[in-house]
Amino acid sequence: MDAMTDLLYVHGGTPLQGEITVRGAKNFVSKAMVASLLGETPSELRNVPQIRDVGVVTGLLELHGVRVDADAEAGTLRLDPTDVESAHVADIDAHAGSSRIPILFCGPLLHRLGEAFIPDLGGCRIGDRPINYHLDILRQFGAVVDKRAGGIHIRAPRRLQGTKIALPYPSVGATEQLLLTAVRAEGITELANAAIEPEIMDLINVLQKMGAIISVDTDRVIRIEGVDRLVGYQHTALADRIEAASWASAALATGGDIVVRGATQPEMTTFLNTFRKVGGEFAIDDEGIRFSHPGGELRSIVLETDVHPGFMTDWQQPLVVALTQATGLSIVHETVYENRFGFTDALRGMGATIQVYKECLGGRPCRFGQRNFSHSAVISGPTPLAAADIEVPDLRGGFSHLIAALAAKGTSQVRGISLIDRGYERFTEKLVALGAEFDRD
Ligand code: EPU
Repeated sequence: MDAMTDLLYVHGGTPLQGEITVRGAKNFVSKAMVASLLGETPSELRNVPQIRDVGVVTGLLELHGVRVDADAEAGTLRLDPTDVESAHVADIDAHAGSSRIPILFCGPLLHRLGEAFIPDLGGCRIGDRPINYHLDILRQFGAVVDKRAGGIHIRAPRRLQGTKIALPYPSVGATEQLLLTAVRAEGITELANAAIEPEIMDLINVLQKMGAIISVDTDRVIRIEGVDRLVGYQHTALADRIEAASWASAALATGGDIVVRGATQPEMTTFLNTFRKVGGEFAIDDEGIRFSHPGGELRSIVLETDVHPGFMTDWQQPLVVALTQATGLSIVHETVYENRFGFTDALRGMGATIQVYKECLGGRPCRFGQRNFSHSAVISGPTPLAAADIEVPDLRGGFSHLIAALAAKGTSQVRGISLIDRGYERFTEKLVALGAEFDRD
């Protein structure tokens, strides 16, 4: 999307009503694409959404000699890693600025080429987002990590060796880093305190199809027996439960009724419970989930974000917009990212009553307590929202602003909407399908 179309004039106040479709999960598809590097034969991934992150990973894979054939309409990707080679550092830099995925290329590239270069990482500005766990994991496998200006050079002096690791925190990316590295390392790897998000489980499905041996124990310990070779996979990506929940929150905030085709229940159980407690209604069938505002008052809640099976941090921002319309005081304690309430500034500017606190409110203490991070929010409602000029801060915060603008009476200017393309497929087309009123510049 070019600068001309980076601004939307949103005429809010109309309930969103209609039907849209979500496809594969952004936070799975990108990792499955990286996994294709580990195979000796081509892979095929289905249910791939047309989002910018897929384009970024496609670019990075192509730079490393992977042939990527995409049928965007059908949502299929064919990934042929037969001729993988080293990429040019400057080119990687040009591709990577907008994503954190490059760090996950390390394990596969170390196995294939013996070395990897990872440029400084992008991604949403929602906290420090360090990569210390990733680098510690790679070192434990025997890789040598060398930080240089502009990026990190990593090499494997010999075949990577299986290892035993306990994560200080169940990081999604670090768990994926370990999986993508351990499957072809020599011997057994054991990861304690692993993350077990559904997207990780689907990555394990993919790796098992490729020939990996991976078990997940009930106590969140993952065990991998390294193998000598892996082959390509054929796989249909699980649905994007973050996008589905975002539209659900949009239905609630605007008093609407949205059928999200493709949304699936098992990965959304925790969200659905919360949605019902707030007063939203949903109906599930084989095609998807219908989310609606039944009319009348919404209820305030106490909510804490957490790793799976807890309430996802990525569900938090869109739901907070709906909570501005609930009666009473809602408390939201963000325990995954230390800095994910920046987006509430704009909501306050639109008339919401939201205060953020450094204390751990509403539940158990988390690792951000006593550390000067504004990571708890108290939302007092219901407050009508008024149109405003907004600048999109990050992917989920940006979508939340869009929801707020759609709920607010009057015309809002929402700038920087191209950021939303990173993770929401053709969202302006979906808004049209839902009866939203907006103009482009
Ligand atoms: N962390 C560290 N050190 C590390 C890695 C993580 O301290 O080396 C900390 C982070 O700073 C954060 C926490 O661990 O406080 C959790 O981070 P995690 O590694 O789990 O997140 P991630 O893998 O970087 C993925 C998603 C995020 C999603 C989180 C949590 C992708 C590409 N991104 O990030 O999605 O919020 O897991 O579920 O999969 C989004 O889609 O908008 C998004 C931000």
